[in-house]
Amino acid sequence: MFLTFSCKETTKPSLGRETTAENVAHKEEILYRPNFHFTPKENWMNDPNGMFFLNDTYHLFFQYYPEGNKWGPMHWGHATSKDLIKWSEEPIALYPDELGYIFSGCAVVDLENTSGFGNGTTPPVVAIFTHHDPIKEKDGRIDFEYQSIAYSIDEGKTWVKYANNPVLQNPGIKNFRDPKVVWDEDHEQWVMVLAADDRTKFYSSKDLKEWKFISDFGKDLGAHGGVWECPDFFPMQTENSNETKWVLLQSLNPGGPNGGSATQYFIGDFDGETFKLDETFKNQLDLKKAIWLDQGMDNYASVTWNNTNSKNPITIGWMSNWLYAQDVPTETWRSSMTIPRELKLNKTENGFLISSEPVNQLENYYSNRISKADIKFKEETVLIDSKTIDLAKSVIDIKLTDLTTDIYTLTLSNAAGNSLKFGLDNIEKHLFIDRQSSGLTNFSEAFGKQVTKAPLAKHYEEAEIKIILDKTSIELFFNNGQEVLTEIFFPNEPFEKLTIGSTKKEAKISILNTNKLNINNN
Ligand code: FRU
Repeated sequence: MFLTFSCKETTKPSLGRETTAENVAHKEEILYRPNFHFTPKENWMNDPNGMFFLNDTYHLFFQYYPEGNKWGPMHWGHATSKDLIKWSEEPIALYPDELGYIFSGCAVVDLENTSGFGNGTTPPVVAIFTHHDPIKEKDGRIDFEYQSIAYSIDEGKTWVKYANNPVLQNPGIKNFRDPKVVWDEDHEQWVMVLAADDRTKFYSSKDLKEWKFISDFGKDLGAHGGVWECPDFFPMQTENSNETKWVLLQSLNPGGPNGGSATQYFIGDFDGETFKLDETFKNQLDLKKAIWLDQGMDNYASVTWNNTNSKNPITIGWMSNWLYAQDVPTETWRSSMTIPRELKLNKTENGFLISSEPVNQLENYYSNRISKADIKFKEETVLIDSKTIDLAKSVIDIKLTDLTTDIYTLTLSNAAGNSLKFGLDNIEKHLFIDRQSSGLTNFSEAFGKQVTKAPLAKHYEEAEIKIILDKTSIELFFNNGQEVLTEIFFPNEPFEKLTIGSTKKEAKISILNTNKLNINNN
């Protein structure tokens, strides 16, 4: 059966039980509410904001409109977790005020109380965010975005907005938003990156209140198919050497590799004022034009947690795309977040690159492990069916061997005739996800109209892929997350089996692990 959802059901005459708003919402909950990816209980969510870790708790804030299921006057919603996987939604943290809506931004744990907001017992947490003034915007002015701060002395439960907001005035730039702040240990200063139309602006501060402009980056570098938004900037230690590099994540919308919103990154060095690209990275950038954190269509505004005690940065992204986010067929809530990921900095033969992998904490929820070695296939071969493993709650690690110049397609399918295809095209050298027949697609002109492709530099004789499946999302981590693809889909019924096939020659697949996740977040 084809489902249609409408939030205006209550204004229509009742046509019987099947069409009531409650019934539609119930169906939507069962079919589409993710099992383990964070969603707000109700209404609209976009970018992750203000993430910090303190006293064993991870905090996630997010762009939130509590009055409706489309984008509206922005608040900061709030959720907490002990392990980044199981989340509890908390009361709204920041409300719009006379300076405007509360747009994206970050939070830092001010361990040394540089801001002076502390009370001597707990370190203050300082949120740095954009105030977006809709009245000035309507009046046709361009200076309607500026940066403000708020602080919490009860570990993020309640917030006080700073009396002298804004702390950074608009210099006459239309898109001037999404501050992300990091402590720069070498130069004993806070550094803020801010998206400003077509570049990243860098500012420094000693106390989080007074900010000094220090440099611009990126006007002529990377992808520029849209406005730059939601940057992040942090040092990373290389996995296989002792070098430290600075990494700039820089989202943009539109202009992503497969259309719409996406996050690119840059690797370089920072002298306390300017960010300069690393030469090996620059060479790769010259060839590719842009280097992406995730080449799927649904990982946007990915940023890192502040103050974690892990060696590597941990990110989360908004699992949607501005091309269709407001139309996806869930009326009760709209959007979920990606699985949190650990970033790694690798020195490869071509130079520095970042890989992403799901955080280790996910493994605490693994149960029902199944493995099968060396299954030969060419014709479509069943790997897993939902009687053994719930495919909407699983992590599947596969290894493909004996690969030739061929196309290897994995297919999730159901009796309703929906199929989601993904895999490795060793002929044209790319990874792909094809959601054209995955179920509901016609809610937007921009959804499921083409195959998503992530180009690869060579073809592979063997490859490993980690596949994370929830009810409406797939996250693919190719060869330890060297390439990542994240996408959402809306089948008419849950997927029932996973198969694999090739076109020309027999190859082998080993299921290293199939893990049913023992979790229900919602
Ligand atoms: C990115 C973004 C940000 C902005 C926020 C508004 O998705 O456009 O640039 O702060 O969303 O909700």
